[in-house]
Amino acid sequence: MNRRTTTLFAAIALSAGLALTGCSTDSSGDQPRLKVSGAFMPQPVMDMAGGFLTIENDSDTADKLTSVTSSLSDDVQIHETKDQKMREVKSFDIPAKGELNLVRGGNHIMFMNIKQKPKQGEKVSIELHFEKSDPIKVDLPVEAATHNPKQH
Ligand code: CU
Repeated sequence: MNRRTTTLFAAIALSAGLALTGCSTDSSGDQPRLKVSGAFMPQPVMDMAGGFLTIENDSDTADKLTSVTSSLSDDVQIHETKDQKMREVKSFDIPAKGELNLVRGGNHIMFMNIKQKPKQGEKVSIELHFEKSDPIKVDLPVEAATHNPKQH
C-alpha cells in the first residue's frame, strides 16, 4: 500500500469503529465532561449554609447532579427555589452542551445543621455526585455573607 491508501484505510477503520460504539452503547459510550467554576459559600450566619457554583457540560451526554457530601454537615441537600420558598429535590439536570447554575435565589446546595461556622477566607471541601460522571471534589471559598456575583 502506498501512503495515501494507508491513510484512507485508517480513516475508514476509525469511522467504522466510532459508528459501532455509537450504536451499541447509549449511556457509557460518551461520558459527560463536566467542569465546575465560580464556587463559593456565603459566610453562614445560622446553623445552615448555602453553596453556589456552575457546572458546565461540554459533551453530547446529559447528566444529573444527584447529591453532595461534605464534612461540614451530615445532611447536605440540594434545593430549588419556587415562589421564594425552597424545597429539597432529588437531582438537578445538567443538559448536554449546557450548564447547571446554582445561584442565590435559585437552585442551590444547602448544608443543614453545620458542625461549625466557617469564616470568610476559609474553604469548605465538598464532593459532587452525579448520575453518570465520577464524583468531583470542589473547594468552596467562604465569602462575605452578602456575596452575590450574579447580581450586578
Ligand atoms: Cu435551601
